[in-house]
Amino acid sequence: MEQTTTGRFDLLGLDGMPADELGTLLDEAEGFVAAAEQGESSDLLAGRLVAILFFEGSTRTRCSFTVAAARLGATTLDLTGAGSSLSKGESLLDTALNVEAMGVDAMVVRSGRSGTPHLIARSVGCPVINAGDGRHEHPTQALLDILTLRRRWGRLAGRTVVIVGDIANSRVARSNLHGLTTLGADVLLVGPPTLVPPSFTQITAGPGTVTVSHDLDEALPRADAVMMLRIQLERHGDGGAGSNTPDYRRLYGLTVDRAAGLRAEVPVMHPGPINRGVEIDSEVADDPARSLIMQQVTNGVAVRMAVLSRAIRGLV
Ligand code: CP
Repeated sequence: MEQTTTGRFDLLGLDGMPADELGTLLDEAEGFVAAAEQGESSDLLAGRLVAILFFEGSTRTRCSFTVAAARLGATTLDLTGAGSSLSKGESLLDTALNVEAMGVDAMVVRSGRSGTPHLIARSVGCPVINAGDGRHEHPTQALLDILTLRRRWGRLAGRTVVIVGDIANSRVARSNLHGLTTLGADVLLVGPPTLVPPSFTQITAGPGTVTVSHDLDEALPRADAVMMLRIQLERHGDGGAGSNTPDYRRLYGLTVDRAAGLRAEVPVMHPGPINRGVEIDSEVADDPARSLIMQQVTNGVAVRMAVLSRAIRGLV
């Protein structure tokens, strides 16, 4: 959450978000999880209008923001790149300014281009929430990942989260690096050298550390949780390492055999979408004793309720 010069709160990334602010947002999300479990509804955002502007494909994030807004009593205005006047040459910024002129209370923005939500936030008068921008950040995904781990462990300090896959192209990895290490977790990044640049060890301000390994079998015994990422082929101009699926799975896939070697209490996570049989075997992704994947999705609604409430209502 970033405070602008006008006192407005935008959520553009987790980079630089202090631990106490992360903790407060997670506490608010926990409150919404508990309310949902009790079947309680909320009218906190009744009469408010949330614009959901998605200029790149999405299933989880887009639906989750829509559900979150509905559970708070808000109405949503949905716009995707396909079918909008972007196809006639209108710019993203003009699109956002026109949507703002209709009287929205907040904008949720996803774009394949890093920095788009930041550009829009500088030009509009309402709060802007980054729903994933290019390779840069996906803050609500990381918040829901962290909430899921916090609900399991209580606190993150001293835990090691192993993140495996296409780190270089992953906004999920970047946001998680910021959030997890700020809360004291250590992150071990694993993948092929071309997809896990050594510079990522410098990404954190601490107190958690970031280390890199290119050997999944060496890394897994150190894991308190394993987060698998897909190869982001849409960001590989030349096909990249993910084009050789059997070799990738052999070296970096969470196969049934590898998962069998994990300690029983080590959970497996994935932000989705999953490429089954590539970065993770179906038996592992669907294992109710180990997989937190559907809990991540459920917790995502609560996180987005907390973020929308804070952006539109402030601290309540
Ligand atoms: N995890 C995630 O961002 O999924 P979607 O692309 O489906 O929103």
